[in-house]
Amino acid sequence: MKAKTAAWGIVVIIVVGAGVVLSGILDPSYETSEIDQADSQTPAQLITRGKYLAMAADCTACHTSKDGAPFAGGVPLATPFGTIYGSNITPDKKNGIGSWTSADFYKVLHDGIAPGHPVYPAMPYTSYRSISRADSDAIFAYLRSIQPVPVANKANDVPFPFNIRALLRGWNFLFLRNSLPDASSGSSDEWVRGKYLANGLGHCTECHTPRGALGQLTLGKTLQGGDLGDIHAVGITPGQLAARGWTTADLQHFLAFGIAPQGSAYGEMHDVVHYSTQHLTQADNKALVRYLTGDTPLSPAALPAQAGRPPEQRKSLPPAGLCIWPCAPAAIPPTARASPMSPSHCTAIPRYATNSRTTSSGSSWRGFPPSSSPAIKAARRCRASTQS
Ligand code: HEC
Ligand code: HEC
Repeated sequence: MKAKTAAWGIVVIIVVGAGVVLSGILDPSYETSEIDQADSQTPAQLITRGKYLAMAADCTACHTSKDGAPFAGGVPLATPFGTIYGSNITPDKKNGIGSWTSADFYKVLHDGIAPGHPVYPAMPYTSYRSISRADSDAIFAYLRSIQPVPVANKANDVPFPFNIRALLRGWNFLFLRNSLPDASSGSSDEWVRGKYLANGLGHCTECHTPRGALGQLTLGKTLQGGDLGDIHAVGITPGQLAARGWTTADLQHFLAFGIAPQGSAYGEMHDVVHYSTQHLTQADNKALVRYLTGDTPLSPAALPAQAGRPPEQRKSLPPAGLCIWPCAPAAIPPTARASPMSPSHCTAIPRYATNSRTTSSGSSWRGFPPSSSPAIKAARRCRASTQS
């Protein structure tokens, strides 16, 4: 077993090494022109648009730490290859992007190459690659307009051989694709815009698509569901959504408010809704959903009878971690009964429960009951019954 792993390691290093040489030759370069004003926008309009696009792309998620200044970095991202920290992307000259050109910036979004070093694909440039140059320039203009924060970047905690950044060029050569596969079929303008929002800015695939041994997206299984440590980001292909009873209107509501008859966002998706999708314009919200369902939505299956609450109670984003589960509502303490969870969330609770991620003080993670509690045990049983 050990020998096999070592052999794999050598193969990986040779393959990735070859990639380094090749991608060194193939590395694209961009005009170092100043910010693209082709849309004849005033600088103020450009900044406003850039702020909106940065929200649609959820740059905050990985670049603003819990108690830190906006975009000053320091957010830890646990990956199978070690912990990687989101960088300071304020206009600070020493620690941020204060001395970058708009072309440098585009190159990070498009190729994952910062001035002087490639970045880890924990920065989702595999998705951001489809962001247009004009939109990249608008985001850049916005970031250049915010307060510079002189916070030093945290050193990543990545063991050998993954700490050799040059290998990332090989990774790019092997796995970085010009476009991601379509998750649905369509050709309407709304669908095309939705695809740009989902595959590019919203980088939905980074969590909802399974990954291979080197952290690469399994593109043949686009949006079919991915694992994020304790939580499973459920499959959101048109077929999977329809099977779980999602209508177009429910999806629009979910992305705008974090809650729907199917349940509420409570894990990573809560943050996605909170920082990103709730801020989308109505047109972009509709376009994103159009891409999820395709131009011809499938007819959704009926919802389990227990799911859902009256629509008038579904208007605001529930706090993370507060949720009940339609499979076993009686098993969940009333205090936790703030919002329903979807049957798909059945996969998340037992994962959490089996990982027993409780703190030493006995309190539970994100408000879930302790893994030994009757609620979690009931949830686990119920999940088994709904999945067979
Ligand atoms: C899923 C997490 C994630 C999201 C979302 C994300 N980033 Fe990053 N970003 C990272 C990580 C992690 C790094 C550092 C990678 C490394 O150390 O190689 C990084 C690095 C960068 C860098 C390079 C900084 C440097 O000095 O090397 C820039 C610029 C950047 N991100 C901009 C953005 C922008 C703009 C957005 C939104 C459009 C964004 N990021 C969204 C995780 C993310
Ligand atoms: C940072 C990871 C992450 C990103 C990015 C992400 N999601 Fe999610 N998503 C999750 C997780 C985890 C869940 C399930 C549990 C939860 O957090 O609510 C989920 C749940 C969902 C659900 C509910 C499905 C169900 O039946 O329960 C929908 C719909 C959804 N995501 C759509 C999207 C869309 C559209 C995007 C892109 C705009 C997106 N997600 C981006 C992690 C993510």
